[in-house]
Amino acid sequence: MSDAAKFENRRILVIDDNAAIHDDLRKILSNAGEADAELARMDAAIFGSDDPDTAATRYQLDSAYQGQEGLACVRAAYDADEPYAMAFVDVRMPPGWDGIETIARLWEVDPRLQTVICTAFSDYSWDEMVRQLGETDRVLILKKPFDNIEVRQMAVALCAKWDLAVHAECSRAKLEQVVTERARELMARKEELAETHAQLLQAQKLESIGQLAAGIAHEINTPIQFVGDNIRFFEDNVTSLFVILENYARMIDPGGESLTWEERTDKIRKLLEELDLEFLKVEIPAAIEQSLEGVQRVATIVQSMKSFSHPGGDEKQVADLNRAIESTITVARNEWKYVASVQTDFDPDLPMVPCMIGDLNQVFLNMIINAAHAISAVVGDGADARGVITIRTRRDGDWVEIQIRDTGCGIPEEIQSNIFNPFFTTKEVGKGTGQGLAIAQTTIRKHGGTLLVDSTPGNGATFTIRLPLDDAVDGSAESSESEEAHTVR
Ligand SMILES: Nc1ncnc2c1ncn2[C@@H]1O[C@H](COP(=O)(O)OP(=O)(O)O)[C@@H](O)[C@H]1O
Ligand SMILES: [Mg+2]
Repeated sequence: MSDAAKFENRRILVIDDNAAIHDDLRKILSNAGEADAELARMDAAIFGSDDPDTAATRYQLDSAYQGQEGLACVRAAYDADEPYAMAFVDVRMPPGWDGIETIARLWEVDPRLQTVICTAFSDYSWDEMVRQLGETDRVLILKKPFDNIEVRQMAVALCAKWDLAVHAECSRAKLEQVVTERARELMARKEELAETHAQLLQAQKLESIGQLAAGIAHEINTPIQFVGDNIRFFEDNVTSLFVILENYARMIDPGGESLTWEERTDKIRKLLEELDLEFLKVEIPAAIEQSLEGVQRVATIVQSMKSFSHPGGDEKQVADLNRAIESTITVARNEWKYVASVQTDFDPDLPMVPCMIGDLNQVFLNMIINAAHAISAVVGDGADARGVITIRTRRDGDWVEIQIRDTGCGIPEEIQSNIFNPFFTTKEVGKGTGQGLAIAQTTIRKHGGTLLVDSTPGNGATFTIRLPLDDAVDGSAESSESEEAHTVR
């Protein structure tokens, strides 16, 4: 509907089989228009309103003599975007529809139409009308013969009511549009935020991989170095073993030198002393064992790096959190080993958890590094004493709980509410960026979980992560640690 048609609708349809009624109504209402216009003109002259004509009530009256004809008029007006505000409908119009049926049909075409049913006799009681038309506020009863004032009041009131209803509809539509637009803006903002979070997370991952790389290189370098030393030790001593073997072979060769048994045993004994077989017997197996251990350590670190840097993706997938935490502890070893020991207390029956494991690994890493920093604030470089970081996993109904506790400096009460804010840090430049816990909190929330802190200054801190199991696959994780749930490093 056009804006012009929306407000100030004064179009009225009269449906009556009696032509005289049309004339009466026309007279009453056109007089009203003139009277009102005159009043408006006087008003303008006295009070100086700008446009006296707009204030006047000018009705446009159309006529129909049967219900069917009336319906055609209403439909044509509605389709032309010039609907009627109201209709006066006679109750008896033989041979066609009566007034009540006509009104019911008019409303099917134009539900906004206000109606006045005109009646000389009490053809219908109000109850009967309600039964036929339903409980409605769009119909009034006007008794014949007409009272001019009553007719005018009805025209004014019902046209104004039509205007108000349309006005309200427009406002609601506008409001709905504003709300939809706001909702769209909010969605866009939310997507932007998610994108920013993903970028931040990625940046932090890259940063921590860089930070961890030096430590991991160091962690790999140590076993590689002693494996190398051991291989050089074999290289030096394996020759001695061959010399001994060769001498044995020569001594038992019947076609060889003609020596007495004493001479032979004497020679062998001297050789064994010279080459220190006792030493080789102890050292060679020890070196082999140590080398195997070293190779195993390198293999574990490489495996942990693979598992830690698991790209994950945006979709949740079930993961073994015990194993993920284990890997994170290993890749971060160089960050904590000088100042703390790490104890794990894993629930051997922990179910697989639906999650984005790559993102969670980053959270665990942030917390372990924070714990190590907090402990180092107490024990310094760890030369005299070391603290403890305890990581505990448990199932709690439909939730999985991960607790990371440290014996560090704790968090002063007054900053506890700030630590999750982006860029809040108490650390010196280069050591802290203030993003670890902010990212951790967003990530945990994205999982539908919670992250809480509990700390008494001077008495360490405990961070508790709770993750929902919702669509978890039941059955416990096949943790490599399940037989040794409690591990101390
Ligand atoms: N385990 C903890 N013990 C004591 N304080 C902590 C601990 N974890 C975090 N904090 C405090 O919260 C602040 C914010 O941590 P975080 O967001 O990881 O940023 P950053 O480590 O870069 O400072 C830290 O600077 C520190 O003051
Ligand atoms: Mg941090």
